[in-house]
Formats: sequence, structure tokens, C-alpha cells
Amino acid sequence: MSVGTRSAHGVSEACAGGLAELGIDPDQLPDGLVVADEQGRVICFNAAAARITALPAENALGQRLEKALPLEDLEGRRWWQLTDPYGGLAIRRRQPERNLLLPGGREVLVSAQYVRAEPTGPVHRVVVSLRDTEARRRTERSHAELIATVAHELRSPLTSVKGFTATLLAKWERFTDDQKRLMLETVDADADRVTRLIAELLDISRIDSGRLEVRRQPVDIGAAVGRHIQAYVAAGLAADRFLLRLEQPLPMLWADPDKIDQVLSNLLENAVRHGEGTVTIDITPTASPREGEDTGTSVTVSDEGPGIPEESMNRVFTRFWRGSKRGGTGLGLYIVKGIVEAHGGTITVGRGSQGGAEFRFTLPVSAPAYLS
Ligand SMILES: Nc1ncnc2c1ncn2[C@@H]1O[C@H](COP(=O)(O)OP(=O)(O)OP(=O)(O)O)[C@@H](O)[C@H]1O
Ligand SMILES: [Mg+2]
Repeated sequence: MSVGTRSAHGVSEACAGGLAELGIDPDQLPDGLVVADEQGRVICFNAAAARITALPAENALGQRLEKALPLEDLEGRRWWQLTDPYGGLAIRRRQPERNLLLPGGREVLVSAQYVRAEPTGPVHRVVVSLRDTEARRRTERSHAELIATVAHELRSPLTSVKGFTATLLAKWERFTDDQKRLMLETVDADADRVTRLIAELLDISRIDSGRLEVRRQPVDIGAAVGRHIQAYVAAGLAADRFLLRLEQPLPMLWADPDKIDQVLSNLLENAVRHGEGTVTIDITPTASPREGEDTGTSVTVSDEGPGIPEESMNRVFTRFWRGSKRGGTGLGLYIVKGIVEAHGGTITVGRGSQGGAEFRFTLPVSAPAYLS
């Protein structure tokens, strides 16, 4: 829209020329690109520049550079006056990247290149690159939040461990064996919590950096669900809390058995801990959405509890989100989604027919060529 449109000055094609030869439209560049001619008038203002400055390209084209881009440094000095691209030293070729402010206090990373037709001749073009710092700030903020949350999550079990061990060491003689056992059991459970949290954080770091390894082999998912149910029953849950429905025949599933176990264990644990009533697990073959593959396997875990409020459904898969007081660290579903997607599958959440939460994940039969 901005470039290639002939402005009233008829010079905007000066920008498109070189890039066009490469088959690139300046509007497709991720960074803001502003070019001024030998008189300091804007002849190119691409889409990213318009987005970053919130100034439509039509309003910028033909304007003087200092008017279209009224940049100030962090001390409030006008940057174009300070750097004086057209007047300064005749050998100056560029301005290194600086963090500058746009009107309204919006921060932007700016660098400029001075193009001279002859080595010490007058400036022919000023090419300005603008980069939005918002995205970078957001990631920095999310890293800071992650560290704060992790520190907090690690501190509470460690405070308890420290409290009980200190008490036991100081007053060992004053406690009965039963009291000591109770304290040690708490310490033991808290140590498990820390270990689990660290394992989850390692998974998250692998998921976030795309290093989660999927070692595929044939997996009998019905048998895997059966083992989880048996473990719950052995731990004291009534057998009728679970209903497993298998639709036969199921296609062969190639997946990482340990990771699929992790997915199942998280979903079943959530259904038992956050949900209520019968936990139903439906395993069915599905038509794969991808062309050239026949079918996949779909697993639905639903319960009869309160379910997940409509307004929170798009947040359940984000890390550290937990809706109820019965929550753990809020990492389970984030990891589940990461594992399912690493298998080339998808996961969705909804409301079950009995009103509770319903999680459904679908795995392709085998490794698509690009994943194997
Ligand atoms: N079956 C369910 N019914 C109702 N709410 C659920 C269900 N499953 C998950 N949730 C809600 O989603 C939140 C996030 O779940 P997630 O598994 O990510 O974390 P968590 O269970 O709180 O902790 P973690 O799994 O890390 O121990 C839960 O805190 C809970 O509020
Ligand atoms: Mg969970």
C-alpha cells in the first residue's frame, strides 16, 4: 500500500526498485522501513513502519523525515537535529541502532544508513530501519514472570521441609515416634513435589525450545489407560469411578509410550482431582485431517464435575493457569499440549455431555514424514 503507490511526488518507486528485483515487497518486511530522498522527504514508508508509528503511510509519504518520524532520544532531544544526516560529516555513513521514543512515549529501535552517490558527496538517501520493542519486552516480561512463579512454587515446599527438619533437629527428644513419622512424611511429600516441579520445568524448557524428543514405537493406548485405572483402583478409588470405552478396530498407533503415559496421567489426574463422578475415557479411530493419511486415534477424557468455565477455556493450556483451589502448579495441561503437538496431534477442551470438563486429543497414526 505504501510503497509502489506513486505518491504526489512521483518518487515512491525509488524504494520498490531494488527490492522488487528480488521479488520482495517492502510491505512484507518484518521491520519498519522508511526512506527519505536527497531533500529529506519521505519516499517510502512500509506497512511495518505504519504499524510501529501508528501513522498511515499516506500521511507520511512526501513529509519531511523529522515530521513523519519525530523521534526523540531518552533525554528528550530531537534525534534528527542531533544526528543531522544531511548536514553532518560528509564521511558519515550510518547511525547505529538506538532506543528512541516516538510521540506518546512509544519506544522503538532505530538505525539509519546514509546513502551517498559518491563517497564524500551529498546524502542521496536516508534509509531508516524501525524495530518494535514491544514484542521483546513481552518476552522479557514473561521470562521474569516465569522466574518469579517458579521461585514461589519452589519456596513453599522448601519452607516446609526446612521448618520440619529444623524442628526435628532442635527438639528430637520431645516428639513421639508418631509425631516424628508425620513430620517426615510431610518432608517426604514436599521433596517429591519439588522433584516433580523440576521435572515439569525441564519438560517445559524442552517444549519451548522445540527439543522434546519423541521416540516412536507401537503403543496400545487402551492397555495404557487400563494400567492407569488399575493404579487408581489399587490406591483406593472405587472401580466404578472409571468407564473405558474402546471402539474397535483401532489403527496402529506409533507414539512415544512414556510421553503418552504422561498425557494420560495428567488428564486422568485432573478428572479425578478437579472433576467429580464417573471419569469416562473414549478411544476411537478418527479420520485424519491430513491428506494422504488414513486415520488416527482420538482419546476423550470427560468427567461429571463442575467443568471449566467458558471464559477460561482458552487459558487452560497456558502455563501456571489454575482455576480451582484444588489445583497443583498449573503446568500439567501445558505439558500435555506440548507432548500431543510434538506428536503432530491436537488437543481441545470443551464441556462433556454430563456437564463436566471434556478433553479430547487426537494423534496421527504414525509419524508424518516431516516429523520422523
Ligand atoms: N477435569 C477438570 N475439571 C475441572 N477443572 C479442570 C479439569 N482439568 C483441569 N481443570 C482446571 O484447569 C487448571 C489447569 O490444569 P493443569 O493440569 O494445567 O494444572 P493443575 O492440575 O492445577 O496442576 P498440575 O497439573 O501442574 O499439578 C486446573 O487448576 C483446574 O482448575
Ligand atoms: Mg493437572
